[in-house]
Amino acid sequence: MNKEQFKDLHQDKVFKNLYNGEWIESSTGKTIDIKSPIDGNYLGSIQAMSKEEVDKAIDNAAEVQKLWAETPINKRVDILNRAADILEEHVEELADILVLEIAKDKKSCASEVQRTADFIRFTADAAKQMGGETIPADSFPGMKKNKISVVTRVPLGVVLAIAPFNYPINLSASKIAPALAAGNSVVLKPPTQGSIATLYLAEVFNKAGVPAGVLNTITGKGSEIGDYLAVHEKIDFINFTGSTEVGQHLSKIVAMKPLLLELGGKDAAIVLEDADLDEAATNIVSGAYSYSGQRCTAVKRILVMDSIADELVAKVKAKVEKLKVGDPREEGVVVSNLISEKSAEFVESLITDAKEKGAKVLVGGNREGSLVYPTLVDNVTLDMRLAWDEPFGPVLPIIRISSIEEAIEISNKSDYGLQGCVFTKNIDKAFYIANKLEVGTVQVNNKPERGPDHFPFLGVKASGMGTQGIRYSIEAMSRPKAIVLNLNNVE
Ligand code: G3H
Repeated sequence: MNKEQFKDLHQDKVFKNLYNGEWIESSTGKTIDIKSPIDGNYLGSIQAMSKEEVDKAIDNAAEVQKLWAETPINKRVDILNRAADILEEHVEELADILVLEIAKDKKSCASEVQRTADFIRFTADAAKQMGGETIPADSFPGMKKNKISVVTRVPLGVVLAIAPFNYPINLSASKIAPALAAGNSVVLKPPTQGSIATLYLAEVFNKAGVPAGVLNTITGKGSEIGDYLAVHEKIDFINFTGSTEVGQHLSKIVAMKPLLLELGGKDAAIVLEDADLDEAATNIVSGAYSYSGQRCTAVKRILVMDSIADELVAKVKAKVEKLKVGDPREEGVVVSNLISEKSAEFVESLITDAKEKGAKVLVGGNREGSLVYPTLVDNVTLDMRLAWDEPFGPVLPIIRISSIEEAIEISNKSDYGLQGCVFTKNIDKAFYIANKLEVGTVQVNNKPERGPDHFPFLGVKASGMGTQGIRYSIEAMSRPKAIVLNLNNVE
């Protein structure tokens, strides 16, 4: 794909949808404007598809899926590798689109795209390892050697992939690539903000040779077509990343349909007396404020031992004060406008609640439109919303604790259970705490993070259901198929 072909996608600035290998226009004539969160500038429009068009796209994906499942794995692997190559050729352009569309700094955007190309390549490699097992019956009491189960893995059918705004390329591809590797077809619902970048990603897979209909896109307001898509009888599996509220709603309405949900978090950074406080402060600040705190794995609260709290807080404060705020196109900017003014108002409401209940705002606390300045809040107590709610913005509460048990108790009291981290030089304590935390992953002496992408990534409690991460995702989007051989003696 060359740069010209990239431009073709947004002729007239109205983005079409990929349907059966072609970019087609919706008949509704209804469009949704995409504006940059940086300055409100118009970037293009996406189409609000009708329910009939949704049906058509899903029917088409269902029709071609069986043929795709029959396609030799080595061919699927070739296509995925090609997609990775094409994506890699376009890191710069896609990063530029992302910067404008979701207000993330250029370096992080470029690394999102590069990381996605790597992800797709790793998925292709993992696809080569897909296999099954044979299970002899005679280990079970009373069974003989003539019965044997041959277990292979088969695709689920049509996967509905719903990605969020914060990593539109990476969190779309990390659903699409493993789904395709396993032999599923995919219907992709891009996030409204982030859809332009996501549609380009769809074109990358299209150009790489994904057969017509095996990947279709559906744009429109989640609030208008989301439920319709999710309960559609020809959708066999839903892979969703987004808010806990929407995830829980989806899981209620889809009845027996299997889902993989990656939702919100309230990741704690637990800092013990013997921690390297410089290392802890550096990790905490980058974990909490990068991409303006709009990461599910952001550090969302500090639980620090009383005896070292003042020292740690001083180090964190000094770093937060230095964070560069402004236009993400400028070098070094970390905190920019949030994705919407509504998000910023929500973050502000958490800060106000904490202030009213006696917390001390050490840095920031102010908002201008959708921009919330990096905010550090000390003396947060458990009656404050900031102790429990996920802000998805650049605000970090500090809760002082007096024992390891208290840290574990407060951490586990959260409805969420995505990740957590512990800073200490004592591996025994680290392991003890890690074992007790009710989360998917605990990082020792590092901030929470999803990558590298072949690690398992999962949330428990309100943070999700199911496990992602290359081979885990392939497994989640396939199921065992057992063929039991009942053999006669040949004599
Ligand atoms: O927002 C949720 C993302 O999965 C976070 O990914 O930890 O790699 O930044 P990350």
